[in-house]
Amino acid sequence: MMATESRVRTGIDGLDEMLQGGFPENHIVVVMGSFGTGKTTLALQYVIEGLKKGEPCIFISLEEDKDSITQNAASFGWDLSGAIEKKKLGLFKLEPSDAKTTITRIKSELPKFVKSFGAKRVVLDSVSLLNMMFTDENERRSNLFNLCQLLKSTGATTLITAEVKDENPRSSRDGLAEYTADGVLLLQSDESKEGGEVQLTVRILKMRRTAHSRRVKPYSITDKGLVVHAGADVF
Ligand SMILES: Nc1ncnc2c1ncn2[C@@H]1O[C@H](COP(=O)(O)OP(=O)(O)O)[C@@H](O)[C@H]1O
Ligand SMILES: [Mg+2]
Repeated sequence: MMATESRVRTGIDGLDEMLQGGFPENHIVVVMGSFGTGKTTLALQYVIEGLKKGEPCIFISLEEDKDSITQNAASFGWDLSGAIEKKKLGLFKLEPSDAKTTITRIKSELPKFVKSFGAKRVVLDSVSLLNMMFTDENERRSNLFNLCQLLKSTGATTLITAEVKDENPRSSRDGLAEYTADGVLLLQSDESKEGGEVQLTVRILKMRRTAHSRRVKPYSITDKGLVVHAGADVF
């Protein structure tokens, strides 16, 4: 048997193919994209894949509240309520308005909680809102670095979503997450040349400790979630 590094499948076949099996275990992966590109959907899919395998998962939202996320998931046919009841899924909404409490809770309680919950997968949606809680650039940087260290120490594999800058859609809004993370996926929506349909594309900008595809692949958001067309090329 080859001693290959364990992979954590995203549950999106085409993407797992691009990743040669999935995220390397214990990675922190940032999914960057502008609003509506499917970051939250991808994050939900990642959690659903974990739940299918019986892995405890944690989903922390700074954006949508719990009901909205549950309903959102239900529209794709994914049941979160059952998993929450069975204590397989921890779904939390943190209030960006209550910055101090939120940051303290994330720092002091999250790592302990991830460990005691036995979470294999953690989602933070989105880090941009977390970063907005800091006015000071150095504080923001050290907090993010610290958070990533804490998450890594839990042994979980973490997916973090980030909004991109309007003026530079290949960089996250704060320009930090992609440097701290082990991996970066970029979701983009482009007007097609003929006008009309918007083309959604995904690419892997960075993934430490693994070979991966560097190609740009089209994807769609269907009623079953994201579908990455790994066999197709973008023209
Ligand atoms: N049940 C569904 N079936 C098909 N497409 C959907 C469904 N729900 C949402 N979408 C599509 O996904 C988009 C939003 O995805 P979302 O994951 O919330 O993006 P982001 O988190 O990047 O803002 C919507 O704008 C819509 O086009
Ligand atoms: Mg979202």
